Amino acid sequence: MGLLDGKVAVVTGAGRGIGRAHALELARQGARVLVNDLGGSVRGEGAGNAADTTVKLIEERGGTARVHYGDVADHDQAGDMVACAVDTYGSLDILVNNAGIVRDAAIWNMPREDFDAVLRVHVAGTWSPCHHAAAYWRRRAKENPASTGRIVNTTSGAGLGGNFGQTGYAAAKAAIVGMTLTLALELRRSGVTVNAVGPSGLTRITATMPGAGEVIEPEDVADDAWHPMDPSNSSPLVAWLASDEAHYVTGQVIRSIEDRIIWMQGWRERKSTAAGGRRWDAAEIGDRMATDIFETRGAGLRFDPA
Ligand SMILES: NC(=O)c1ccc[n+]([C@@H]2O[C@H](COP(=O)([O-])OP(=O)(O)OC[C@H]3O[C@@H](n4cnc5c(N)ncnc54)[C@H](O)[C@@H]3O)[C@@H](O)[C@H]2O)c1
Repeated sequence: MGLLDGKVAVVTGAGRGIGRAHALELARQGARVLVNDLGGSVRGEGAGNAADTTVKLIEERGGTARVHYGDVADHDQAGDMVACAVDTYGSLDILVNNAGIVRDAAIWNMPREDFDAVLRVHVAGTWSPCHHAAAYWRRRAKENPASTGRIVNTTSGAGLGGNFGQTGYAAAKAAIVGMTLTLALELRRSGVTVNAVGPSGLTRITATMPGAGEVIEPEDVADDAWHPMDPSNSSPLVAWLASDEAHYVTGQVIRSIEDRIIWMQGWRERKSTAAGGRRWDAAEIGDRMATDIFETRGAGLRFDPA
């Protein structure tokens, strides 16, 4: 018995790295998996058939999967992906939005087209699959109010706390959090939970960062072995969030770093001060920030990345 017996899942960007690990784990838990991947470079150039290897690995391990080579940021291809899962396996229960690219540079060196490309894949490439899956789940909920759906989106430390050289990537990953919170509200009545995970792992994305080097694919680490940066380490959390057991979890951001599962706390009111029924005078704000809010006039106020 697996946690996901009888379920149908789509995993985007599942041709390698963390997405491949998610697809393998969902299949291991009993889901039939549509393995999507455009197969381009880490910068999002070109196309290829990386998804074939993931499907082969799933089938070798006794699971059921088929490929989808579409570009998730293309609205029609994202629609085709959702339709392909429904046509092939008769339903869609789980959507894992994982596809991603990086084009890092400090903002003064980042070409505008690199910013656009990164936003396109992460933001539109999450929104369009969600749009098509949501329409499907709304229809299904009207026919069967007991039906459910699961969306697991992918954010990152850069989106939650910033990272030098990643203005595009950080903006995109923060946008995915806002989208997740909003979708959780919009889809609650259709029985669909929507959460975001922040994974980690040594993949070709981390290999673009100075000093990172090594790339590990999920199958490089034996099932009974442990590597703290195995790209599979967050996949059990994704499988659980995709399961019926996690029906009460929605609108949450959860990181999975090495062996830790970390429930993140979002923007919350921390402290406030009021002018007292009138507009503030700019000249008085410095004092009030120092006394009521920051409790400092400069020294000791730090920027703490997530
Ligand atoms: N590796 C980490 O430590 C880490 C940390 C935080 C978040 N993430 C996120 O995890 C996800 C997976 O990244 P990874 O590290 O496994 O990198 P990866 O490059 O190994 O995998 C990303 C996959 O997405 C696919 N892809 C890219 N654009 C696509 C598109 N338009 N349509 C369909 N597929 C597309 C790529 O072909 C690739 O196979 C990304 O969203 C990434 O931002 C990774």
